[in-house]
Amino acid sequence: MNASASISPTAHYTGLVWARHGLSHPALATTTGRLLFYGFKPVILAAQWAGVPAIDSFLLTRHRLIDLRLDEAIRSGRVSQVIEIACGLSPRGWRFNQRYGEALTYIEADLPGMAQRKREALARMGGLRPGHRVVDIDALADSGPMSLEAVAASLDRSRGVALITEGLLNYFSEAHVRSMWRRFSSVMRQFPQASYWSDIGLSGDMGGSRVAPFVGFLSAFVRGRVHLHFRTPADAEAALRECGFTAARAMDPGEFASALGNIPGGVSRRIRVIEAATPGPLPAGFTAGGESDVHSSN
Ligand SMILES: C[S@@+](CC[C@H](N)C(=O)[O-])C[C@H]1O[C@@H](n2cnc3c(N)ncnc32)[C@H](O)[C@@H]1O
Repeated sequence: MNASASISPTAHYTGLVWARHGLSHPALATTTGRLLFYGFKPVILAAQWAGVPAIDSFLLTRHRLIDLRLDEAIRSGRVSQVIEIACGLSPRGWRFNQRYGEALTYIEADLPGMAQRKREALARMGGLRPGHRVVDIDALADSGPMSLEAVAASLDRSRGVALITEGLLNYFSEAHVRSMWRRFSSVMRQFPQASYWSDIGLSGDMGGSRVAPFVGFLSAFVRGRVHLHFRTPADAEAALRECGFTAARAMDPGEFASALGNIPGGVSRRIRVIEAATPGPLPAGFTAGGESDVHSSN
């Protein structure tokens, strides 16, 4: 089974976690999510008792840090359009649409089956409001109607854009991740300002015998490998630059602990959040060799 097909159940699990922690709506908590959550609870509690880091704190840390950075970018005016790729049952699109209304264009995107499930859940939550859409996408497609290029075609080229992936990268090989990043940066360059946020697990942060069983368990659960492509933040940042981003950093959530609020189990430092940017389109007559690093993220 390929990674795309086998990782969908994890979206139900995380969907339930967001709802249990008050970040979501009951319609985004599915029966599958409940079965997984309560079915695996004994295993997860036993693992925590043995010293494996709490999974809820890991999931809440990545979600809240992406929220924090996205919100800051919207408030500063850098971003007014968002595409959340592999949105799963994430409540972020619904929450940000409630917060910013149609001043923010928020596109949630996932493979067709999950996208349809999301549309149905949002319909039960009162329906899609202006500014909020759900579309089909395949993050691995280079072209065609399910490609990012096609999804982004409807956006306004004069406004800033953000791309988000959460809970996606570590299920794909490094070659697939690099191909996604190249696709993302080339679409982002079409906008005057563009940011990308994603969580990523690094092997250097996962060291220690206590984490290895968790990675093994997750691999078995998704019936595929969990890939820890890069060892250090610098390795991940270098790869992002090689894939067309001009500014990139793999942030340690510990730096944002006071802004992340109370996370049960504490802020997790086993996960990083990538923040990467591209410069705007090149003025006519300029070539890529002459571009400057003007839109660095800070
Ligand atoms: C682990 S879930 C993460 C969902 C959500 N972002 C979260 O954090 O809960 C992975 C999601 O990736 C989606 N997915 C898998 N392969 C994909 C692909 N090739 N293109 C777009 N989405 C994909 C799945 O359908 C699923 O919703």
